[in-house]
Amino acid sequence: MLDVTHPSSSDDHGDAIPSDPREFAAKVNAWVPHDIVLKDAWFPLAHSFAVTAKPVRRAVYSQPYFLWREHGVALASEFHPAAGLIGAKSTFSDAAGRYPVIEKYGYVWGWFGNPANAAPEHVPSLPYLPEEGGLPLHMLGTVRFDCTAPLSLENLIDLTHADFLHADVVGDEIMDKETVEVFHDSETITMVRTCVNKSVAPIMKWFGGVKSDVQQVRQVIRIYLRSHAAIAYGRFSPGDNVQLFHPCVPETRDRTRLDYAMNTTNVKKTNLFRYLMPKASYKVSRQDSTMTSPQSPRYMHPEKRKDLHSPLDEAGQKYRVLMLALAERQARGDYAYRDNVSADCSDIIGYQKP
Ligand SMILES: [Fe+2]
Repeated sequence: MLDVTHPSSSDDHGDAIPSDPREFAAKVNAWVPHDIVLKDAWFPLAHSFAVTAKPVRRAVYSQPYFLWREHGVALASEFHPAAGLIGAKSTFSDAAGRYPVIEKYGYVWGWFGNPANAAPEHVPSLPYLPEEGGLPLHMLGTVRFDCTAPLSLENLIDLTHADFLHADVVGDEIMDKETVEVFHDSETITMVRTCVNKSVAPIMKWFGGVKSDVQQVRQVIRIYLRSHAAIAYGRFSPGDNVQLFHPCVPETRDRTRLDYAMNTTNVKKTNLFRYLMPKASYKVSRQDSTMTSPQSPRYMHPEKRKDLHSPLDEAGQKYRVLMLALAERQARGDYAYRDNVSADCSDIIGYQKP
């Protein structure tokens, strides 16, 4: 395994990952995902199409976000607009109860934190989603997890789970060789998994026109820590690239909303995979839920059973430590972004532009 720190994190503040293995392990095991509430972040609260003149309600850590449009412009408020502007209840909105809002990549993003710190450069880079949005509805969907958002993301970034839990969709664990690389900075963690001669994903065999029994696979998970949002990018040869945006908005501390977007415009229009792959998220997310939903409440009650790990799950462990480091910094009043999440990450994820 190889760990390469992204150059942008080489600042004066040092790395959040301890070099001492015992210190590292102590942090990994101190993890209580429900206790981590990170502020000053954009959350993709709704697909753009879902926000109209009629207000919809969303939530971040139980704080209400009403979303609607006036003259086509997306707005967000603590209150239903029909209730009138009755003044801000929280420090997260302005005097009129309004939250900072931005519309990008086909999502309405709401700012969770100090409104004075909201800035467009804190919206994560999502290279394969059109900035102006407009993907067809069959590439968008919504699922929910009865699970705390960080656990859903920790599950995602250990992609080896897919071979077992989602084998009927994306293929089993049989292959000649596998390597995992992990990159991080203070705001992101990226895992790159390369598989040589891996069993073909059944969904690609049935609907993707892939004839061979094995394929070369390169899968990337990149998590934007504060926004609780992940890029899941897969390159399959033979086969089509999978371009999924997988946000995990913490509606409450133990409930997650996933308004996903899977851009399959790269797939030929005659290929059923273009239409069916985005819908596979419903099946895959139910499989994930069987694992994470029972796991989530266990962190909320002290118990003697140990929280064990494999050193092979380097990415999941570093995800925990990086989240804890952000939480510790915020507890000290430091909400600054040390790394630029909106810088184009095409090179980091190995995205091949069409
Ligand atoms: Fe999964």
